Amino acid sequence: MYSLARKLLFTLSGETAHQLALEGLDAAARLHLVKPFVDQPVHAPVEVMGLTFPNAVGLAAGLDKNADHLAGLGQLGFGFIEVGTVTPRPQPGNPKPRLFRLPEQEAIINRMGFNNKGVEHLIEQVRQRRFDGVLGINLGKNLTTSVEKAVDDYLLGLEAVYPWADYVTVNISSPNTPGLRSLQYGEALMALLQPLKEAQARLADQHQRYVPLVVKVAPDMDEDELNSVAQTLRHLKLDGVIATNTTLDKSAVAGLRHGEEAGGLSGRPLTEKACLLTKQLAQALEGDLPIIGVGGISSAEDAVERIKAGASLIQLYTGFIYQGPKLVQDCAEALAFVRGPQGQ
Ligand SMILES: Cc1cc2nc3c(=O)[nH]c(=O)nc-3n(C[C@H](O)[C@H](O)[C@H](O)COP(=O)(O)O)c2cc1C
Repeated sequence: MYSLARKLLFTLSGETAHQLALEGLDAAARLHLVKPFVDQPVHAPVEVMGLTFPNAVGLAAGLDKNADHLAGLGQLGFGFIEVGTVTPRPQPGNPKPRLFRLPEQEAIINRMGFNNKGVEHLIEQVRQRRFDGVLGINLGKNLTTSVEKAVDDYLLGLEAVYPWADYVTVNISSPNTPGLRSLQYGEALMALLQPLKEAQARLADQHQRYVPLVVKVAPDMDEDELNSVAQTLRHLKLDGVIATNTTLDKSAVAGLRHGEEAGGLSGRPLTEKACLLTKQLAQALEGDLPIIGVGGISSAEDAVERIKAGASLIQLYTGFIYQGPKLVQDCAEALAFVRGPQGQ
């Protein structure tokens, strides 16, 4: 079923296909036509960051930036869904075309640039809560906010989404917002995360509910940089880390159609790099923070490898675009098997 839909959708431009597929999915969900076509979601609960995830497979940020499609996506067997990246104010993102498929490599290059409808719209969507799994909300900064003032945008975002999120992600690793990745290093990381941790403590008190705060990092770091990030996260007692975002290293797709497009590369060419980074991160964190592994997971074997590398949960994006809901099911079943009946 998905391979037929994919054949039709892949005749369209990347972004149009994504939009049509999501709208079609929503319409099918409204007509109760999704559940009969997908297997029962895998029930293999995992406890991470004090939350119970129905299974260990999540949808990565960026596919449902505005939380407009939770009703449909929520029926595809994901244990958790991360919506966003959302910024305080709506913004259009980069000019189109900005999303390119590289089917030979099951890869995508994108330079979307945080196109989204703003945090107020997202809250309107998530307050209707049409998903039973764990809901993450991924925050970014507006393009017009300088990198020096980025913390203000993240604080605004955190304050607004706190009552509606099960966990909140601080995204400082998208390659398509100029200067954003510089926030991952040294003093800048400390100066960003410390006020966010303080705000989290205040909000937990105010709402009588602790919402874990996680940071999403890029794969393009050397070991020293990674160790320094890990030490800051441990020092500030962040609750988790998502590894990784897309890569700027496009050597694996050189010479292919669209291989030279500007933006971040995701999918199969990222598998090894993201897995290695997960391993190094797990060593540097020494178990203090859980890792959510993402990047090039395109098979049940990849999912198992990522857990073996040190991740506690995984997320899918590009693999899901190419393979559809079957990949969610395959990964969730494989991880349930690896962890055993206690979810360990
Ligand atoms: C079209 C597209 C848009 C994305 N948008 C976001 C985003 O808004 N925020 C974010 O944190 N990651 C975003 N990502 C990155 C994914 O969440 C994921 O980290 C990355 O693609 C690696 O996983 P994959 O190889 O399974 O796709 C985006 C990825 C793609 C392909």
